[in-house]
Amino acid sequence: MKPVEIAEDIFWVGVIDWNIRDFHGYSTYEGTTYNAYLIMDEKITLIDTVKKEFADVLMQNIRHIVDPKKIDYVISNHTEMDHSGGLASVMHRVGEDKPLYCSKMGHKNLSKHFPQKWNYQPVENGGELSTGKKTLTFMETRMLHWPDSMFTYAKEDKILFSSDAFGQHYAGLERFDDEVGEAIMPHAKKYFANILLLYSPLILKLVDKVKDMGLALDMICPDHGIMWRRDPMKIISAYVAWSEQKPKRKALVIYDTMWHSTEKMAEEIAEALGREGVDARPMHLRSCHRSDIMTEVLDAGAVIVGSPTLNNGLFPTVSDFLTYMKGLKPINKVGAAFGSYGWSGEAVKLINKELEEMKFNIVDPGLRIHYVPDEKGVEACQELGKTIAQALPNN
Ligand code: FEO
Repeated sequence: MKPVEIAEDIFWVGVIDWNIRDFHGYSTYEGTTYNAYLIMDEKITLIDTVKKEFADVLMQNIRHIVDPKKIDYVISNHTEMDHSGGLASVMHRVGEDKPLYCSKMGHKNLSKHFPQKWNYQPVENGGELSTGKKTLTFMETRMLHWPDSMFTYAKEDKILFSSDAFGQHYAGLERFDDEVGEAIMPHAKKYFANILLLYSPLILKLVDKVKDMGLALDMICPDHGIMWRRDPMKIISAYVAWSEQKPKRKALVIYDTMWHSTEKMAEEIAEALGREGVDARPMHLRSCHRSDIMTEVLDAGAVIVGSPTLNNGLFPTVSDFLTYMKGLKPINKVGAAFGSYGWSGEAVKLINKELEEMKFNIVDPGLRIHYVPDEKGVEACQELGKTIAQALPNN
């Protein structure tokens, strides 16, 4: 896709990755974009690059506007290779001696990825760079989501180049929020739930800091997906709400099954929750991708996990999901465990241990059913559903 002028003399020169379906374990059914931005001022400045495989497309986009050799400054807001993989190719064409601006951690981390002795210019938090008519301010955003992450703010144009924050894995011909409308929000929510959730406390602090600074924002330009120009505050407000993780009257029954007994339990528990006015659904771990389940976990008040006992342990997909969810540190959840077993039946105990470590409010010791749920077993599942419903807020 050709460059798009997003403000006077500022161009989107990124690339669209239509075909990616797995982004380090996150399902990207609608592809993604790697956004890069070119500022055509007295000093021509490139903000961020793209994944290595797309470096030639980036260069082609830049050539539509200017000879890459004329670029004076390169800024790297983030080391991760979807934005810096193309750096070797870019610096080779722009000039290996051109100043490369990044955070101090960015300098350290880029040096680990690239052996070239580039002209690194590590910047301070709050440091400024004049490109002529425009002024760029650097804001360190450590651990949002890497130690090297930073934002670059174009002062006169009131544009925040926000790296991964406020991004979405969405490939489309649209470049702006107003071209997609509400349909972009589920992509933004999934991105938050799977990439940023564990940094929620830092996000709330950052938003407060930005408010205190009185930073005017006409546009937020992330490194993935569309740019927010119609209402940049909409995505900031969504980030605040998602970071607060206020639980809804919503429950997920996440499970795997070998011979349908744990499945039967999951469906009975979900139906019982539904009868109590809870927005509930069973999610089979081999039918739903872990990243889609995690998106639903974000605002769920209850997470109920079921596994058959396999070889004295958990079913592998259940272990996988528990590990994934634990790393993302969701808060304010009611939890419970269930599962069918044949002889040893350790699964429920093992799930409870994980949920306790995640500081979930365990409202039931857990339900184990020997082989197949009979009438009494079905009743026990329904009772578990009721117990969980009582522990949920009424909103
Ligand atoms: Fe889109 Fe953290 O890279």
